[in-house]
Amino acid sequence: MATERRSGPLGSRTPGSALGVRNVLAMLRTPLEHLQRVSEAHGDVIDMPMLSQRWLILTHPDDVEALLVTHHASLVRDEFAVYLRQVLGEGLLTSEGELWKRQRRLSATAFTPKRIKGYAPAMSAVTDRGLARIEAGRPVRLHEVMARLTMEVVAEVLFGAGITEADVQTVSRAMTLLNHLLANSPEAALRIPTWAPTPNHRAAARALANVDAVIHRIIDARRRSGETRDDLLSALLSAVDDDGSRMSDQQLRDETLTLFLAGHETTSLALTHALYLLGRHPDVLGRVMAEADDVLGGRLPTADDVPRLALTERVIKEAMRLYPPAWVVGREVATPIEIGGRTVPVGTQALVSQWLTHRDPRWWPRPEAFDPDRFLPDVARSRPRFAYFPFGGGPRVCIGSHFAMMEAVLMLSLIVSRFEVELLPHETLRFQPSITLQPKDGGVRVRFLPRASARARDEAAASSA
Ligand code: HEM
Repeated sequence: MATERRSGPLGSRTPGSALGVRNVLAMLRTPLEHLQRVSEAHGDVIDMPMLSQRWLILTHPDDVEALLVTHHASLVRDEFAVYLRQVLGEGLLTSEGELWKRQRRLSATAFTPKRIKGYAPAMSAVTDRGLARIEAGRPVRLHEVMARLTMEVVAEVLFGAGITEADVQTVSRAMTLLNHLLANSPEAALRIPTWAPTPNHRAAARALANVDAVIHRIIDARRRSGETRDDLLSALLSAVDDDGSRMSDQQLRDETLTLFLAGHETTSLALTHALYLLGRHPDVLGRVMAEADDVLGGRLPTADDVPRLALTERVIKEAMRLYPPAWVVGREVATPIEIGGRTVPVGTQALVSQWLTHRDPRWWPRPEAFDPDRFLPDVARSRPRFAYFPFGGGPRVCIGSHFAMMEAVLMLSLIVSRFEVELLPHETLRFQPSITLQPKDGGVRVRFLPRASARARDEAAASSA
């Protein structure tokens, strides 16, 4: 698709000292605002010095595609992935080259459409149990509730009945600590090696050792029993490569830990943002509730319901456009590439940002407005393919994208069929972006009102008006 290009009034190079100290400080303090500012001033290709590094930020969909798809073989993971590798090991998110290719091939067997459909009953059942725990009317942090729910869903889908309530607590605690370490700690910002015995590193190491014990115990039990189940672990355990080899216990540990980390936080953010937007747009909320009532009629959602929950799906997509859980994707250039009309040298950190491209008025008229109908098939077809890429793209596209979409649709439909999620007065989304678009100060507060009592409240308000 031919698409117009934009060069900014100030050329592509960001201002400030050659060392880019100003960029570094701004990216630490207010990254979203800084990116927006430099994008408006410098156009589709932004050349940004960052101390010893050179960042190249690409916002045009054609360049996003060129980076993620066309030039995939000339790029490696960015330097944050190198830091992450010390924590997660060599799972899909952090591995490279032949190891990554083999692991991706083997892991793909756990994410076929048939397998994903098979995870739906566990997703619905766990959400149902989690919703039953919610104390109606009590103010809670929306993101905390969603993170706990998606954590339990991933744990159940990965390990099935092999995981106990105490294990889920162990893993939850570890994920909270890891998220904090990777997201908000000075260790991660300064890329301090994880062997340095700082309090954050020590706490994360203890928590990880506990998770390792859980994972290894479950793997051992599964290997001993020889049992095959419908869960993700069984799919990974039984995956056989062309040469007849399987994943070692260490690889299984690295992959399951990666799936925990990559799989629960992103989906919980998508749901948090969708519910926030619905709280702000009662008209759309009413339509989404009507869809859930119509399709589910009060029962638990199944995989077969997903195609009929079309508006619910569009709401999730629009929430991920406005507030993309993964807001930036980076690569390091390993062999020079031609992109955005220039030759990019080895060592450059090339970045594409969902936050920027998803808000570009060339592809998204009135970009700040919440309008799920942008994702009606006919409207979506009129945009360049990479104007929207919440799950990345190319060979390293999110392996869990279909899993996540089904999970988010099932969960959102079940939530709105049971509750009206009411935002407390004056609550607005504010972010403290790290690898994901984390909420600032714990995020917005809401009350979960059972549907019947929400109706009674509205009727009382109408009769007193
Ligand atoms: C709304 C939810 C999700 C979002 C927005 C999301 C986003 C992404 C993005 C943007 C990437 C590409 C990163 C890059 O190119 O550097 C990615 C990779 C990945 N995601 Fe997701 N993800 C989500 C859910 C999940 C789930 C549910 C799982 C697993 C159950 C998962 C597992 C992974 C893994 C393993 C990778 C690395 C793939 C590879 O490099 O081969 N994600 N995700």
